[in-house]
Amino acid sequence: MNTYVPPVEQTSGERWEWTRERYGNGIFSHRISSERRRLGLLESVLDGPTRARVTALGLKPGDEVLEVGGGGGSVARWLAEQGARVTVTDLDTTFLEELTDLGVRVLRHDLYTEDFPPGSFDLIHARYVVLHLPDPDKAVARLAAWLRPGGVLLLEEPASFPVMDSPHPAYRTIMRAFRIHLERSVGSDTAWARTLPLPLEKAGLTGVGLDARIQTVHGGDDEAQWWRLNLEQSREAMVAAGLASDTEFEAAYRELASPDFHDLSLAVLTAWGRRAG
Ligand SMILES: C[S@@+](CC[C@H](N)C(=O)[O-])C[C@H]1O[C@@H](n2cnc3c(N)ncnc32)[C@H](O)[C@@H]1O
Repeated sequence: MNTYVPPVEQTSGERWEWTRERYGNGIFSHRISSERRRLGLLESVLDGPTRARVTALGLKPGDEVLEVGGGGGSVARWLAEQGARVTVTDLDTTFLEELTDLGVRVLRHDLYTEDFPPGSFDLIHARYVVLHLPDPDKAVARLAAWLRPGGVLLLEEPASFPVMDSPHPAYRTIMRAFRIHLERSVGSDTAWARTLPLPLEKAGLTGVGLDARIQTVHGGDDEAQWWRLNLEQSREAMVAAGLASDTEFEAAYRELASPDFHDLSLAVLTAWGRRAG
């Protein structure tokens, strides 16, 4: 007989204690030789929609802009090329230092524990960053406080539900295991983006909007190569933890390289809101 187990209530507040070391200590460390390429592949699949959304939100030359968790730096670079006055932060600024040549202010800064003065920025953008924090809603409230009156917060965050029931068995198995690994190792909440845009409303922002799309993946394309690098960085720990076997990894690698493989990847939820002027 099956026993009904009620769904666990989503609690508010921090799920675990944040330390700088948690993100990038093992998986996603900027010291891993493939990490610059992994971030570059992410940029190649995400930058088009990001630029379109920032433009639609009315970016102007001279705007004071904060790019949070800038990673490989392509968005900060593009913002500077549009004439914005750009500050880019990250826990590890290794890949961002070259942007100082463009006049970009590069800061090693933890958005979860370190501040900016209230009312500092016309636009704040974070992409694939907030889900990795112990209380993403708290992070949103912090970011909103750094906006000038009339300033805009733009978040682009992934949700993993489309990959969980893929019809491709190896991809489905490895993605389910990877999600667990990500939750355990980094603490990421791959469902949090589905709560958008409410966290922006709770942070007091107005004119709040939401858009969503699902990334596609085709064997060998940039999305597939990005997944391959995510998996390579995680493989040893996942196999040691019994989350997946080497055979299952090899099968997933074959699918991700096959020209016959077409599937959905992550959903990207984009939310924005303005601080009352
Ligand atoms: C998945 S990468 C995304 C990089 C970039 N935003 C993009 O979309 O191309 C996440 C980035 O956020 C940074 N990061 C994670 N937690 C952070 C924090 N608390 N404060 C600042 N940056 C953080 C990481 O170091 C990493 O570079």
